[in-house]
Amino acid sequence: MNTNLSSSALSQLETECLVVVMLDRAENDPNGKDKPAPTVECADAAVRDAAKDVISSGEVTGKTFETTLLHRPAGLKAKRLLLIGGGKAKHFTAAELRKLAGAAVRTLKSKSIRSFAFALPESSVAAVDGVRAIVEGAFVGNFDPDYYKSDRKDQKIDAVTIVVHKDGQKDAQGDMKALEAAMQASRVVAESQNFTRDLVNEPSNRMTPTILAERAKKMAAEVGLSCEAYGADKIKALKMGAFWGVAQGSDEPPALIVLRYDPVGAVDKVHLGLVGKGVTFDTGGISIKPADGMEKMKYDMAGAATMIGAMRAIALLKPKVKVTAIICATENMPSGKAQKPGDVQIAMSGKSIEIINTDAEGRLILADGLSYARQLGCTHLVDAATLTGAVVVALGYVNAGVFASDDQMYERFAKANKEAGEKMWRLPLDDEYKENLKSNIADMVNAGSRWGGAIFAAMFLKEFAEDTPWIHLDIAGTAWMEDSKPWIAKGPSGIALRSLVEFVKGWAT
Ligand code: BES
Ligand code: MN
Ligand code: ZN
Repeated sequence: MNTNLSSSALSQLETECLVVVMLDRAENDPNGKDKPAPTVECADAAVRDAAKDVISSGEVTGKTFETTLLHRPAGLKAKRLLLIGGGKAKHFTAAELRKLAGAAVRTLKSKSIRSFAFALPESSVAAVDGVRAIVEGAFVGNFDPDYYKSDRKDQKIDAVTIVVHKDGQKDAQGDMKALEAAMQASRVVAESQNFTRDLVNEPSNRMTPTILAERAKKMAAEVGLSCEAYGADKIKALKMGAFWGVAQGSDEPPALIVLRYDPVGAVDKVHLGLVGKGVTFDTGGISIKPADGMEKMKYDMAGAATMIGAMRAIALLKPKVKVTAIICATENMPSGKAQKPGDVQIAMSGKSIEIINTDAEGRLILADGLSYARQLGCTHLVDAATLTGAVVVALGYVNAGVFASDDQMYERFAKANKEAGEKMWRLPLDDEYKENLKSNIADMVNAGSRWGGAIFAAMFLKEFAEDTPWIHLDIAGTAWMEDSKPWIAKGPSGIALRSLVEFVKGWAT
């Protein structure tokens, strides 16, 4: 999708469709009974005029995702005018705008419209934030997961023009430059998010650990990153007993993928390590999962895909900070070679683990991934993983779980996360939970009681992050959209990538 910036008058814009945000500016009545006061979020008199009749008819209220499409709007050069509701003006932020841009794309592409212009609602969001939100939202909305439908219609938007209001700016020239830069940067992030979604969308027969490594290598060559992929020999040579314990049950060879970004002039003494769970299919192993819903376990490599996509964006945006991504990719299968409940594995760090449940495999492969990141000299670690069903019990499909061993690092991450407009919620890591890790035979068990399962998994990982500041993202409930929404299709979401890229950029300044 092409992205353009324009400062022409809205009425003079020649486009298939001009999209304008409508907000409800009614003051809040404590009884919630006040009539909506929908207002067109642009100063252009011709646009306001064109929308006047449909608004006075009462058909338009400005409520979120309400769409009203007018053809041949009087006084405008645009072929169509789409009014899109953004809800109450006082609750409107860049995060809402991002969703509206996605919803506009999804509405228009279903009508075979290929290009459109979106008027930046400048009175309600800062221009740079607005441009960024529109680009990111539009790309998210343009993604469809229907790869293997033989009648797949290639209904995509080819171009979006963001229209900014020149008069409102003191130094139009300088401002346009800054907005142009914001547009290009968000485009890189948004395309990387869709790259991640592409990887996650593939079924396990088309996304084995070997294929994931090939895709990472191809991407790395395109953007100028170094990428190595190692197999079982290296995993065994590194004494990654926890990773190998999972991988040994599958006929598909595992892959340990390392992506390195090491820019000239990087900030001193910071080396970020991004560790991703890449279980290309999780049957549960010998502790096998029920058949119902097992097909979803193809997305158990979303953490890996997120880290690979984040590295793509980082390579293109070039922040001055050293980053290494470590991807642990394997299937989790039952077989004659598979590990069994009660087995003891020795992790790379030397700690012994009693395998209580072979379905708690993500923490095992990540344990060794974290140790390896430490061995490579990473000073700060972040992992992303579809780790537990328990995080879905705790936070549903709305918020991803965040765990942090270091408050300072968490503050940095939370700031980036807010900028990126992704929903995440911090969960605790009190020492009291450590009790649950105890094993009779080994240093720890890999699974405990049902209660607080997401925290247990995080406490387990913490044993391997050791004293390196570390953040863990449990994206089991958020990496896959269970239903389609106005702004996003059902399927892979690409959650966490934007926060991670923003977080990495934050270290460079
Ligand atoms: N991959 C699953 C977690 C998962 C659940 C991801 C739902 C996406 C959606 C993970 O490997 C797993 O099986 N976890 C177990 C752990 C348990 C056996 C301690 C779980 O959450 O049930
Ligand atoms: Mn599992
Ligand atoms: Zn899993």
